[in-house]
Amino acid sequence: MRRASGPDATMRILRDLPTLRAELASLGPVALVPTMGALHAGHLSLIAAARREVGPGGVVAASIFVNPLQFLPGEDFDRYPRQEEADLAMLAEAGCDLAWLPSVETMYPPGQASTIIVEGPAQGWEGTARPGHFRGVATVCAKLFLQTGASVALFGEKDWQQLQVIRRMARDLDMPLRILGCPTLREADGLAMSSRNRYLDPEARARAAALPGAMRAAIEAMARGTSPAAALATARAGLTASGFTLDYLALVEPETLLEVPAPPGRLIAAARLGSIRLLDNMAA
Ligand code: PAF
Repeated sequence: MRRASGPDATMRILRDLPTLRAELASLGPVALVPTMGALHAGHLSLIAAARREVGPGGVVAASIFVNPLQFLPGEDFDRYPRQEEADLAMLAEAGCDLAWLPSVETMYPPGQASTIIVEGPAQGWEGTARPGHFRGVATVCAKLFLQTGASVALFGEKDWQQLQVIRRMARDLDMPLRILGCPTLREADGLAMSSRNRYLDPEARARAAALPGAMRAAIEAMARGTSPAAALATARAGLTASGFTLDYLALVEPETLLEVPAPPGRLIAAARLGSIRLLDNMAA
């Protein structure tokens, strides 16, 4: 077993399933933060929330696994940022007890024939833009839950639809754990933190905050009595004028992701700046 070299030198770094199981058998309840690495402050806030969930006697575990099953052909699987050493140092510093870093072969041994398909909240929006993506997310999350025996798993609300898909899967399959959503962390200008923000060149980065800005303006306009259709149309036009190509901007029921005609709901958006796709969502 390797040890981390960060300030908390006791963080366990595990890569094979028998050792993970043996380690966890003797430890307390597990709070799991699944990640694909390239960590930022949003991930670290999940580690802090995980500690609050299990307390000092429990185990805060984070997985780092860039999951090939959730990337479509032609997406950024090969160039997805990988920075293992820096990620491990951040996790150790944040007080994580255990880092789980399976290889692709460990996660998907040759001959794997089973995957999980969620319907309902997985349909539409990202489900339409990225067919098969949620099958990959659901399958890897189910495997991570079983591998770690977590009693709670924590996810950022930034990927709102993903959170609803995982919740629904856990509920439908009677998985014995709680799924906890945690608030999106934002940069000073309002841009939601994301590992993929590093793909933005300086010019695109400067424009990117127009997305949350337009969403907030639409929510405020609806609260003042502007019709949802007019508020969303204004936001769409503004974003297009700012150089975004909008995949969707829609007001949905928060759990089912079905469109609703008026607040309350969740305003969800996906928009591209050049080749970079940004997601965001807000309570409306
Ligand atoms: O949100 C992510 O980083 C990933 O989709 C997840 C939940 C870790 C599954 O690979």
